[in-house]
Amino acid sequence: AETRKYQFDVQMTSVTRLCGTKGIVTVNGQYPGPTLFAREGDHVEVNVVNRSPYNISIHWHGVRQLLSGWADGPSYITQCPIQPGQSYVYRYQIVGQRGTLWWHAHISWLRATVYGPIVILPPAGVPYPFPAPDEEVPVMFGEWWRNDTEAVIAQALQTGGGPNVSDAYTINGLTGPLYNCSAQDTFKLKVKPGKTYMLRLINAALNDELFFSVANHTLTVVDVDALYVKPFTVDTLIIAPGQTSNVLLATKPTYPGAIYYMEARPYTNTQGTFDNTTVAGVLEYEDPSSSSSSGENQSNSNLPVFAPTLPPINDTSFVANYTAKLRSLASAEYPAAVPQDVDRRFFFTVGLGTHPCAGGVNGTCQGPNGSRFAASINNVSFVLPTTALLQAHFAGRSNGVYATNFPAFPPTPFNYAGTPPNNTNVMNGTKVAVLPFGTSVELVLQDTSILGAESHPLHLHGFNFFVVGQGFGNFDPTNDPAKFNLVDPVERNTVGVPAGGWVAIRFRADNPGVWFMHCHLEVHMSWGLKMAWLVLDGSLPNQKLPPPPLDLPQC
Ligand code: C2O
Repeated sequence: AETRKYQFDVQMTSVTRLCGTKGIVTVNGQYPGPTLFAREGDHVEVNVVNRSPYNISIHWHGVRQLLSGWADGPSYITQCPIQPGQSYVYRYQIVGQRGTLWWHAHISWLRATVYGPIVILPPAGVPYPFPAPDEEVPVMFGEWWRNDTEAVIAQALQTGGGPNVSDAYTINGLTGPLYNCSAQDTFKLKVKPGKTYMLRLINAALNDELFFSVANHTLTVVDVDALYVKPFTVDTLIIAPGQTSNVLLATKPTYPGAIYYMEARPYTNTQGTFDNTTVAGVLEYEDPSSSSSSGENQSNSNLPVFAPTLPPINDTSFVANYTAKLRSLASAEYPAAVPQDVDRRFFFTVGLGTHPCAGGVNGTCQGPNGSRFAASINNVSFVLPTTALLQAHFAGRSNGVYATNFPAFPPTPFNYAGTPPNNTNVMNGTKVAVLPFGTSVELVLQDTSILGAESHPLHLHGFNFFVVGQGFGNFDPTNDPAKFNLVDPVERNTVGVPAGGWVAIRFRADNPGVWFMHCHLEVHMSWGLKMAWLVLDGSLPNQKLPPPPLDLPQC
């Protein structure tokens, strides 16, 4: 194993998209940011220097951070932000993961532009459990706002209403040929016939789950969230913010210069406003006879362009069918360590709600019925503290920072998938759920559907979990557990709670620290759909969180 060292200079960079130029926060001036490469087992050291005017921290999304919770990155959870002019070295090891993950800013909405891929190769000499691709390409989905995204969320929180939606989706930071004034910013993948390309898909969009398809080509899914799955082949896939997936694309005989669009557009069944546009990138077959490979946009305009057909925007059954196909490899070499016994059961309702109107503009709030939008887990709308939870915990100074009584069950059960309760107000709180080291946890996440059924991609820091069951309607604690898959359930770090339904996950709390869990739709996170687990040290030396690094930022 090696140590991979990176330098991340966080800085302002001027970028033009859709004929508008704005200053965005980037790493090393790149948008999207640089790719971090490592092999499974490698150590990683990233020196993050903040030369921007914003407080920042970087999260290594999906990296397990075994005994390295100080490097996880969410602001006010594991660390105070890195202030302008300061720096912090993130040190961690990649353990038991191989595939694609990603890194992103973890404060306010800065991840809109501060993100990049993490490519994790198997250890040297260890092959993939599928035929090796000829080429590998990160394909990152994102969103672009004409306006400053920090202003977008600040304005929404001030008025209590929903934030402005993005103006375009992006593939590798590029808006593509389907938007006005955008064709020059198109992601283009040049391919040859008869080869296999592995696309390392990452959904870095802020607020949208996305369908993705490549015209006239199939995609074979081999890995999600940096863990192998039993391969299966589809025309279209669905990927939620936070999720990653490696897919194989086999090219075929066609004429030179043939052009196939790859497209992404949102899945949602909310009534509210969302960015209902489509981004395209180009798969272009090389013309072996053409001498210049550098000539851009020389495509022959007489050639037809093939575009894929994506499912209807609210196709919830497509999503359910797709996610049901995901299975762990569960082979002798890559076994699935599904916890068979459960020490603690939790039932969390997740969804939107309201706060009474206060502090709106001119005494009015723009949320539902004149209230402010809020979101909660078990009716607790999480409030970030002003110091970091992990620092407070380690120093034994939790008083006034957080409470340890995060409810294991919702305060008032109701018909989650049917009639909403009369009172939609949620409670503010900074509460954590405490788990002794090694606890085997079963957690059922239920969409409350209070302000309409809605899918929520829930992300857990510090762990992978097994998705043992999912369904629509209310979770039935008597009959549903009998149907759980405890043999080869998919293992991942971000799972969609189905719109109007539930999902059940299991994980073992074998990683001491404070671990954030939240909806990866950034707007829901801003409204409070988040909480934290406090996993206590075990008794053995390798079950204890080491002391913080000396350069850990202070608030
Ligand atoms: Cu990808 Cu807490 O985030």
